[in-house]
Amino acid sequence: MKAIEIRNKYLNFFKNHNHKIIPSAPLIPENDPSVLFTTAGMQPLVPYLLGQKHPEGTRLTDYQKCLRTNDIDEVGDNRHLTYFEMLGNWSLGDYFKEESIAMSYEFLTKELGIPSEKISVTCFKGDEDCPRDTLTAECWKKQGIPDERIYFYGKDDNWWIAGEEGPCGPDTEMFYDTGKEPCGPDCQPSCDCGKYVEIWNNVFMEYLKKDGKYTKLSQQNVDTGLGLERMTMLLEGKQTPFDTEIFKPIMDKIQELAKKDDIASRRIITEHLRASIMIVADGGRPSNIDRGYILRRLIRRMTRQMNKIEVDLKELPNLIALNIETLKELYPELLDKKDMITEVIVTEKDKFEKTLVRGEREFSKVVEKIKSQGKDTIDSENIFKLYETYGFPPEVSKDLAEENELKVNMEEVDKLFKEHQEKSRQGSVQKFKGGLAGTGEMEIKYHTATHLLNAALKQVINKDVHQKGSNITAERMRFDFSCDHKLTDEEKKQTEDLVNKWIKEDINVTVETMKKEDAIKSGAECMFIEKYPDDVTVYSIGDVSKELCGGPHVKHTGELGHFKIIKEEASSSGVRRIKAILE
Ligand code: ALA
Repeated sequence: MKAIEIRNKYLNFFKNHNHKIIPSAPLIPENDPSVLFTTAGMQPLVPYLLGQKHPEGTRLTDYQKCLRTNDIDEVGDNRHLTYFEMLGNWSLGDYFKEESIAMSYEFLTKELGIPSEKISVTCFKGDEDCPRDTLTAECWKKQGIPDERIYFYGKDDNWWIAGEEGPCGPDTEMFYDTGKEPCGPDCQPSCDCGKYVEIWNNVFMEYLKKDGKYTKLSQQNVDTGLGLERMTMLLEGKQTPFDTEIFKPIMDKIQELAKKDDIASRRIITEHLRASIMIVADGGRPSNIDRGYILRRLIRRMTRQMNKIEVDLKELPNLIALNIETLKELYPELLDKKDMITEVIVTEKDKFEKTLVRGEREFSKVVEKIKSQGKDTIDSENIFKLYETYGFPPEVSKDLAEENELKVNMEEVDKLFKEHQEKSRQGSVQKFKGGLAGTGEMEIKYHTATHLLNAALKQVINKDVHQKGSNITAERMRFDFSCDHKLTDEEKKQTEDLVNKWIKEDINVTVETMKKEDAIKSGAECMFIEKYPDDVTVYSIGDVSKELCGGPHVKHTGELGHFKIIKEEASSSGVRRIKAILE
């Protein structure tokens, strides 16, 4: 049975049982900054589970686009997904255990045709917060599930809550027996061996957890969730979701395009591509924080895996087109957004591609060195350095380390990042005096570039050129300097070339603290001498430049990339202004 048929059967079944079909909420929750993505069908319904009246009544059903990122590193195995679709039905203080279980059983056995013998169920075994759920077990028995296929577990398995606080309660889960041999005498639904696959979860939400305590809600709700991809896999008789019609066309296409085969890589690309498409369609954009960063990670990881199995990255737009084609029955809205989705994902891939190539090259040098020393662990410092110098993301280093059978201590890496953030925070306080607005990696690079530009102008124009001001953002730099004429094209080109020559030479940037007079005597540049305290920091770039400055700066000029003047104009009388970028 195809995914779309399962979804339609589900919605119709509950419609016929007096439920109103409501639309899927966006993947990115509206007006809720507390969660990054919608992770369950109940999430947009929380106010109604707490007692508010829903305009459509007390019986609802929908399909909900969901994204869960806690297992993002597991994607690549035979079951984990980040994006998935959850089919759900809700009672908002309407029916409770008996009717909910009767409907689930009827849907599974009659609508989907799953033989009753293949179904096992689990119930809550009870603790100090909530008694043993014997009623649920009785309801199952009434449907014909015998005692030996009814299991009782504690809160870890049979209690459901979204996050730390909120509406919650005991649940009953339905499992499908794949017919595989039991892994041992204790093989049960709770076991991970793959014999039992969880197919549906009915939560009896009559509790509220707040400040670690459970109280009863004003109404008894039911919240259920059935994973569409997993059900499709079982009903298509497939071993993994990647073998179903939802993913297979992409898996096959990647195999055709790849020069090397690695099934885990193909799964990661396929899964992350679909998740990225869904996030972008719902308004997500890559960035360095929160949900934007999740999207960025998905795209980066996908790009790297493409590179790894040698799929030409130029094929990405074709893969996106094919993926949208595969998904269009389930999500027709993707068709209208195809161009936008392609542009966002491809642009992000392009940005990452350069970093990836450089970073991977450096990474293999590190690996070679470590292996030649007979070690089995990559120093956290190395991973941090790769990030600091090449912008190489730590999670990519982690993946690469694992592929090379090397260990990493990610906690230690995190610690280094935190220390670094704290340093740049302190730096930003200082820098305020230096004309820098932000503290990011790019701003720091631009800051160093102003020193190089200052030095280059002195050589190209004359030594009396002095800095009159500067303004830096992550996108560009502006530099004002004393000069009595408009720069000729030749002068601009020479300046640019000189800066780029110094960048190529990868000159070390060093810092020292000294007395102000000593600094001036040593020939250090300085804009307004009276602005500085008695003890000053002086930044030197080899013997190219020496300036009084609060920093921060890059460690060596090779980090800057390519310097380009985009505009030269008058700023005020006797002062010219250059706008430049690093690319
Ligand atoms: N909210 C429940 C779940 O996500 C149904 O499993």
